[in-house]
Amino acid sequence: MTVETTAPAESGTVSPNPCVRMTGSGEPEQHIVAGGTDRPTAGRGQVVVEVEAAGVSYAEVQMLQHLHPFPPAFPFVPGYDLVGRITETGSGVTGFRVGDRVAAMPRQGAWQKYAAVPAKGLASVPEGMDAAVAVSLVTNGVTAYQMLHRLARSQPGDTVLVHGASGGVGTLVTQLAVHHGVRVIGTASPAKHAAVRALGAEPLDYRAPALVDAVRELAPNGVQAVFDHVGGSGLDDSWAMLADDGTLVSFDSSVAGYLPGQWFRPHVPALRRTVVRFFARLVRLTRRRQTMYYVKPGPDFHTDLAALYRLVDEGVLQPRIAGRHALDGAAGAVRALLEGSTLGKHVLIP
Ligand SMILES: NC(=O)c1ccc[n+]([C@@H]2O[C@H](COP(=O)([O-])OP(=O)(O)OC[C@H]3O[C@@H](n4cnc5c(N)ncnc54)[C@H](OP(=O)(O)O)[C@@H]3O)[C@@H](O)[C@H]2O)c1
Repeated sequence: MTVETTAPAESGTVSPNPCVRMTGSGEPEQHIVAGGTDRPTAGRGQVVVEVEAAGVSYAEVQMLQHLHPFPPAFPFVPGYDLVGRITETGSGVTGFRVGDRVAAMPRQGAWQKYAAVPAKGLASVPEGMDAAVAVSLVTNGVTAYQMLHRLARSQPGDTVLVHGASGGVGTLVTQLAVHHGVRVIGTASPAKHAAVRALGAEPLDYRAPALVDAVRELAPNGVQAVFDHVGGSGLDDSWAMLADDGTLVSFDSSVAGYLPGQWFRPHVPALRRTVVRFFARLVRLTRRRQTMYYVKPGPDFHTDLAALYRLVDEGVLQPRIAGRHALDGAAGAVRALLEGSTLGKHVLIP
């Protein structure tokens, strides 16, 4: 379902820089607040971008619960990624000019009309591409692309298991893999199995009591890769699904049951297993591999985002936009992610 929310009629003065703040840990309606701030200027190596669209991501859900790695101190302006046009360049900026259309992944600060971001993390965005579609690929798309092609190095004919194939990242991994000739088994809640099937994957319920057996029934020799954002002891199930030379990509530890503030603890089981399995492989006890992934606006970011935009242009990738919201709709968008009630990407249009 596509949701549209609009800003209320203006009252009083208009801020030079409308924004959203996260003020504390708790309910989105209480702690995600629309307001205003000063318009930033570009420091050395920075540009100011007039934001056309900013992504709402699971990272903000985790920040609200104080469960995101290295959580920022409250209050702050959240917003992991954005697409917009440069209005000012600071000293030392090369390669980009005022008027250029760009994408950036500042990790916080995207939920405002004007954002100052480092120029070295910018990527170009094609003119004419829907800003919501363009921003939906910045974090989730690059994550999906790099995990599939750079970490798992999936090949046509492989079979892979995508956990959360109904989610923002999972739908993109699935579409990219299917396009690449890879067979996908995708886990999701039963209500979303039809949508997962429509992407070309074979759905399974992630709550199924014998999930490993169900995967082994579909792929008796195991799968060449598992993409796992659940973490915890679930990583042992994912490991058991792998073919002898398969790769387990752990890209988050969103295991339930941790308390606000325990932002490091959920990752300990994943870190421990990654280290143990690294040495097991080193001494040839196994040919399987476990690796951890964290998206960065590094050198491959530009190349991979450009590749994703080409795939959109060619009609291969069709990112799904779950909702376009004004800034005062941010709390509702985070609520939707928190409850897992939507399919696709929620986007703020400042
Ligand atoms: N490492 C990185 O660089 C990186 C980058 C981007 C995102 N992430 C992480 O990736 C995860 C997914 O992000 P997203 O934007 O795709 O979130 P999302 O759109 O909210 O999707 C979450 C997905 O997880 C599924 N899910 C829920 N409980 C599950 C379980 N017990 N087992 C397996 N799947 C389950 C959901 O399925 P249903 O909706 O069908 O219930 C849904 O498909 C988040 O933890 C996020 O922080 C990491």
